[in-house]
Amino acid sequence: MKIHTILSPQLFSLFAKDIANKQVLIIDILRATTSMVVMLENGAESVKPVAGVEEAMRLKNENPALLIAGERNGFKVDGFDFGNSPQEFTEEKVQGKSLVITTTNGTQALSLSLEASHIWVGGFLNMDALVKVIANTQKDVYLFCAGWKGHVNLEDTLFAGAVADALVKLGGVVSDDATRAAMGLWGIAQDDLQGFLSEASHVQRFQSMHAESDLDVCLKFNTSNKAVAYENGVLVAIPS
Ligand code: MLT
Repeated sequence: MKIHTILSPQLFSLFAKDIANKQVLIIDILRATTSMVVMLENGAESVKPVAGVEEAMRLKNENPALLIAGERNGFKVDGFDFGNSPQEFTEEKVQGKSLVITTTNGTQALSLSLEASHIWVGGFLNMDALVKVIANTQKDVYLFCAGWKGHVNLEDTLFAGAVADALVKLGGVVSDDATRAAMGLWGIAQDDLQGFLSEASHVQRFQSMHAESDLDVCLKFNTSNKAVAYENGVLVAIPS
């Protein structure tokens, strides 16, 4: 299994023709793909990621029982039921519910990846489960960092490096310098993730938004043993 890393959606066009029938892991640590896993971990019946606010609103108008979640520029969208803090998606609020989520970067990256045969979603919170399913699927994998508005960010790149490092230990083969760079970054940061990320642009944004406590959720390892796949338009939990 060859390992590739897409450091930003701006670079996706270089890979678009290659991902058909391959695996793609969508990475948006702060906070989209972390939140998606939390929703399913806390018992959501259905989680449907969509690229646009208008589509989320349309779905809600068609089915008022739907709960719509998401942000633009990190802030809850007016009229939505939730923002995008993983702390909002408690068992009490999401168990048995159907949710729609749209975010600035994470759902955009997912919408680019629909030609892949397997689309996985997650973060540090379900890392071991993701590594297991990706290794078992035995197809080349593209680690797709959602970044921030087209820019590379530290946290998604770090996670790509962590996953690549784990896959290499299971026989994966590094296929590009982006993956080597991500693994190098992971080697530097792995013993003090929060410390290393303290200067990250997204962390700075969270401090200005008083959302620092989300970092405790987003940077914690393996609080979920479920991989999450995007299948037939919705996210499904795959117990590992
Ligand atoms: C993203 O799409 O990058 C995140 O959802 C941003 C956020 O949660 O603030």
